[in-house]
Amino acid sequence: MTARLLVFDSGIGGLSVLREIRRQLPSAEIAYVADDAGFPYGDWEAGPLSDHIVALMGRLIERFAPDAVVIACNTASTLVLPPLRTRHAIPFIGTVPAIKPAAERSNSHVVGVLATPGTMKRDYTRELIKSFASECHVRLVGSSELAPLAEAIMRGDAVDDAAIRAEIEPAFIEVDGKRTDTIVLACTHYPFLIERLEAVAPWPVTWVDPAEAIARRVLSVLSLARDPAGVAMAAGQACLTSGKPWAQAQVRLLAQFGLSPAQIA
Ligand code: DGL
Repeated sequence: MTARLLVFDSGIGGLSVLREIRRQLPSAEIAYVADDAGFPYGDWEAGPLSDHIVALMGRLIERFAPDAVVIACNTASTLVLPPLRTRHAIPFIGTVPAIKPAAERSNSHVVGVLATPGTMKRDYTRELIKSFASECHVRLVGSSELAPLAEAIMRGDAVDDAAIRAEIEPAFIEVDGKRTDTIVLACTHYPFLIERLEAVAPWPVTWVDPAEAIARRVLSVLSLARDPAGVAMAAGQACLTSGKPWAQAQVRLLAQFGLSPAQIA
C-alpha cells in the first residue's frame, strides 16, 4: 500500500519532521500544508487557535483524503489532538515536546525546553514534565521570536547571531553547581537552526529533536515497514493556506524533499 500523508504545520518547521518521514518511507505520497495565514501560532490564545485548526483541518482532510495526518507542530499538537480525533476517523500523529528522552539522556538533570509561548503554557507540557522529568530541574523557555527567525533564515534572509543567542540563553542555567546539558527542541522550526544554535550556545549541550521518533510512529500507526534502501521518493506537493507563492529559497528547500508548490483549492 502507498501511504497518503498530510503533514501540517504553521510554517516550514514541519519539514524537519517530513525529512525523517522521507528517510523512512520515501514511497509515501505527501501533501505538506503550511498555515502561513495563521503563522506564528506561538502567540495565539488556546481557544481561537484550536477552533482555527479544527476548521482548517476539516477542509484539508476533505481536499487531500489522507490515510493519516501528521501534526508537525508542537504548538498545535499540545492543544488540538483530542478534538481532531473526535471529529475524524483517520489517525493523527502529533509532535509533542521530547521531555521524556531528554530527561533520560541528561546527566546533570538540568534540562532546557525551547518552545513557543503557546507550547510552554500548555497543561500538556506541564504534565509531560511531571510524568517524565520529576527528577530533573526543567527550564521552560517560550520564545515568540525563534520560529519567525527560522522562517527568515529559510527564506534566505540574514539573521544576527545575537538575535538567536538572546532567545536561547535563558535555557542555559546552573542549579546547585550543575549546568544544563540537554535541550529539547520543542518547536519543529528549531532543528533547521541547529548549526546556528550550536554556534551561539554558551556551552555545548545535547539537542533533542523528536522527528526521527515521530517518523517511526507514523510507520507503526499505519502498520508499515520501513521502505527498503533505494526506493524512489514519491512526488509530493506543498501548499500555503494564504494562497501566496512560495519564496524562491523555500522552493529550493521543498525540492530537496520531493515537494512541488501547489494550491489547496
Ligand atoms: N512549528 C511550530 C511548533 O512546532 C510553531 C511555530 C509557530 O509559532 O507557529 O510549535
